[in-house]
Amino acid sequence: MQVNSIAVIGAGIMGRGIAHVAALGGYRTILEDILPAALRKAESEIRGNLEKAVELGKVERAAADAAFGRLEYASSVEQAARDADLVIEAVPEEMESKIEIFTLLDKICRPGAILATNTSSLSITEISSVTYRAPRCVGMHFFNPVHKMKLLEIVRGLETSDETIAAAVALGQRMGKETVVIREAPGFITSRINAMIGNEAFYMLQEGIASAADIDKALKLGLNHPMGPFEMADLVGLDTRLHILEYLHKALGEKYRPAPLLVQYVKAGRLGRKSGRGVYDYAGQGASAKTQAQ
Ligand SMILES: NC(=O)c1ccc[n+]([C@@H]2O[C@H](COP(=O)([O-])OP(=O)(O)OC[C@H]3O[C@@H](n4cnc5c(N)ncnc54)[C@H](O)[C@@H]3O)[C@@H](O)[C@H]2O)c1
Repeated sequence: MQVNSIAVIGAGIMGRGIAHVAALGGYRTILEDILPAALRKAESEIRGNLEKAVELGKVERAAADAAFGRLEYASSVEQAARDADLVIEAVPEEMESKIEIFTLLDKICRPGAILATNTSSLSITEISSVTYRAPRCVGMHFFNPVHKMKLLEIVRGLETSDETIAAAVALGQRMGKETVVIREAPGFITSRINAMIGNEAFYMLQEGIASAADIDKALKLGLNHPMGPFEMADLVGLDTRLHILEYLHKALGEKYRPAPLLVQYVKAGRLGRKSGRGVYDYAGQGASAKTQAQ
């Protein structure tokens, strides 16, 4: 099926990145959020990231201007999604929220429209079961930061059709992504492994084996990981990471039990870069600066 227009629901870390690559890929794109402040932040971040890409010579001036011209912002799901060929949901990682959005999207979207979710771990089959279009529901798992990360993990639910998978692959390619198509399983490929590494790091920190900075340093310099597990957790958001672990724990068993220290950080509101403090402290510093906050 031909996709020309995309709606993105949720303008947080991921939604704004997806809107950026969609508009740059040539799609008419509408980004929606329930919070007006999130939309304003998204607009300025997309503008900033695209301008920076132009300065660095990664994107042509004309391509960036054309992308700005294809982007719109909306404050209601109805307004954003009613005419879209494909909708990508990027609201928080909670099954109830995903189900609420998919129930609404199924009612308001055109019958042929594809409904995608950017969930990092949850069941596409369960999310799509509340619609009358399960064959046109799919997981499209982008990575953070979306405009830089190469991979798009495409997840096939029980009823997802081959046509829908083909449309998702084509879309990913037009957005400049490499794709892998996988059969649904909790946490897919990437979140399952990443959550395990990050959780183990929290257990080590809790046990006092080493400082967060040294655990990060060890994985970067000893195992050649581009980021340490705590730098990664702060980037992802500790609340998002906890939701994923809770789901993996329920679905796959004891080895995914969230580390108590991670649970405590989330209870304290230390959610990572987005709240100014997670494992590290980002308050009052440049985006790349951090100090350990314990
Ligand atoms: N953060 C990551 O690194 C990452 C990576 C891959 C996938 N994901 C997945 O992407 C999804 C979004 O994560 P995020 O990190 O962008 O979260 P986030 O908290 O940064 O953003 C979520 C946004 O959704 C908005 N929202 C909440 N309810 C809404 C509703 N009913 N309608 C419209 N907007 C609503 C919020 O106001 C917020 O702006 C989650 O499923 C997450 O698991 C996250």
